[in-house]
Amino acid sequence: MSPFGVYPIGEVKIDQDSCYIEIHEPYILGLRHIEKFGHIIVLWWISMRDTTKDRATLLVTPPRLSKPVETGVFSSRSPSRPNPIGLTKVKLLKVENGKLFVDRIDALDGTPVLDIKPYLPGDSLPLKDIRLPEWFESLKD
Ligand SMILES: C[S@@+](CC[C@H](N)C(=O)[O-])C[C@H]1O[C@@H](n2cnc3c(N)ncnc32)[C@H](O)[C@@H]1O
Repeated sequence: MSPFGVYPIGEVKIDQDSCYIEIHEPYILGLRHIEKFGHIIVLWWISMRDTTKDRATLLVTPPRLSKPVETGVFSSRSPSRPNPIGLTKVKLLKVENGKLFVDRIDALDGTPVLDIKPYLPGDSLPLKDIRLPEWFESLKD
């Protein structure tokens, strides 16, 4: 199968006072009404893990577990993966001149942003319905 192309629509900017996504000029029209949403989903390129070695990673050991477990990359949020796509749900604080100010993001300053989607009620699940392996059970606390 031929590879797909993706193009950055913006970039993550983090400084001492704020954290925002700066949308590149040609895509700003696509932000219309985004300020009406309280949360957004940001899809971004894990740019510094876009290496042959990181893309070949299929087994990982998630950090900070009390007992280390080697698991498949698709059972993890590892930044090393065949397609280095990051996904983060963030609170949208304000929108100004093509800049989406957010409460936080786990992408580094300068990270390319691939897409923005509004967070909708159907995206959330009751905690009781979420099944997790035992090494992630503490995340429910
Ligand atoms: C564990 S990944 C999870 C990313 C996302 N929340 C997800 O689930 O897809 C988050 C980590 O990726 C790393 N990271 C963030 N931006 C990056 C970039 N542009 N290149 C490489 N690593 C990055 C940071 O260390 C950050 O803590």
